[in-house]
Amino acid sequence: MSKFHFECRKCGQKIDGFKEWFSLNQKCPKCGNNSVTTIYNTDKEIIKSLISKDAQPENLWHYFDFLPLNDRKNIVTDGEGVAPIERWDFLENFAKEKYGLELEVFVNRNDKSFATGTFKDKGGAVAASVLKENGIKEYVVASTGNTASAFAHYLAKAGISCSIFVPENSLPDSEAHIGTYGQKLFRVKGDYAYAKKVAADYAKKYGLLMTGGNLDPLRLEAKKTQVFEMLRIMGKIPDVYVQALSGGTGPFAVEKAFLDFKETGLLDKMPRFLLSQGDLCAPMAHAWKKAKANNFPEGYEKDYPIYENPQVLIPTIATGNPGMYPFMAPLVRRTGGEIFPVKESMAVDLARLIAYERVIKIGPASAAGILGFFEALKNNLIKDKESVFINMGESANRALDFMKEVAYTTENISSADECERFDREKYREKVWKPFM
Ligand SMILES: Cc1ncc(COP(=O)(O)O)c(C=O)c1O
Ligand SMILES: [Zn+2]
Repeated sequence: MSKFHFECRKCGQKIDGFKEWFSLNQKCPKCGNNSVTTIYNTDKEIIKSLISKDAQPENLWHYFDFLPLNDRKNIVTDGEGVAPIERWDFLENFAKEKYGLELEVFVNRNDKSFATGTFKDKGGAVAASVLKENGIKEYVVASTGNTASAFAHYLAKAGISCSIFVPENSLPDSEAHIGTYGQKLFRVKGDYAYAKKVAADYAKKYGLLMTGGNLDPLRLEAKKTQVFEMLRIMGKIPDVYVQALSGGTGPFAVEKAFLDFKETGLLDKMPRFLLSQGDLCAPMAHAWKKAKANNFPEGYEKDYPIYENPQVLIPTIATGNPGMYPFMAPLVRRTGGEIFPVKESMAVDLARLIAYERVIKIGPASAAGILGFFEALKNNLIKDKESVFINMGESANRALDFMKEVAYTTENISSADECERFDREKYREKVWKPFM
């Protein structure tokens, strides 16, 4: 029996593995649908030793038995997938003082992921390894920036040519990361939806494989390992899962881990998904609000707005055409969760607070995720004694202009007479003020 196979999400057709899936140009041979579920034939009990406190993983391939690669010799890695998960007591103290809630707040430090400082490194590593195993030499990626950078990095390591299409407003610092490795960047005049279209046209023109969207097994399977990491590090599944939402790979991947172990009783209840979208491009949050106000009528999940050329402050999470909403909304509902907007204009304040309290530099999409925690508190979406997991997606590596806005202490002077004696403590009130 092979290690894994795929099943069409629409008609259940079995597909042998990536060789067949790629040769079918990632479409079901029976119904033409373009998304599949990965089914493993490996012994599920193995996970118990992998998530034990004594395990010392070096990278996500620690979970090789539950990843869609056949031969370890094809592994491409840069230490991804084992970013620390930390307790952030200053957020716990805030929840206690302002809302009287006793919470455990865990934050996944994906900013520490070596390759690009984002949670997209996991997908990059799995994609590069699988493409290598299947003899693929060229690949096409459409991305708002972070997947682009991660795939550029890992595919370069595997000697694979990667053609990347980003929307016009993608952060300029991504260019340095992609171009440095000699991967090709096409900056498309238009929004993310249009960049995806141009990438698909290019892939078709040259007969190349392209990223398969938010349900692509390469990315889902990689990102599901975050659930294993929760179990290994925290020793439990949190009550609440917080993340900035764009296309939805992260939440879908969490669900996939639970699907893998459904019959075993090894994983218990899914966390409640509290997902934030930047308010300047929040089609899923807007659709959700409308559906909720109408008590989720029949077919509500098919009713969503599409925003063309959204003018945003956080382009990394700006998906104006939320094609995944029909799948995401029912999933969020099943967990008892919510999708809501957060103010993009507060990302700088948030990054300042985190930099002050934790001495780390986070990117704007991470700020949107953590703003989700503050917004959830404000709206009573978190209950006393709950544990909260914040999936913090990125460092400020590729957001240098953003970092310049976050910095706030510069004074131009010409002599010591003009300089007041400095005490860092005096900034505490300033950085907390927007949140009090
Ligand atoms: C840092 C960061 N946070 C959040 C997201 C949203 O990810 P998704 O909605 O695909 O789970 C992305 C993806 O673009 C990202 O790069
Ligand atoms: Zn099918």
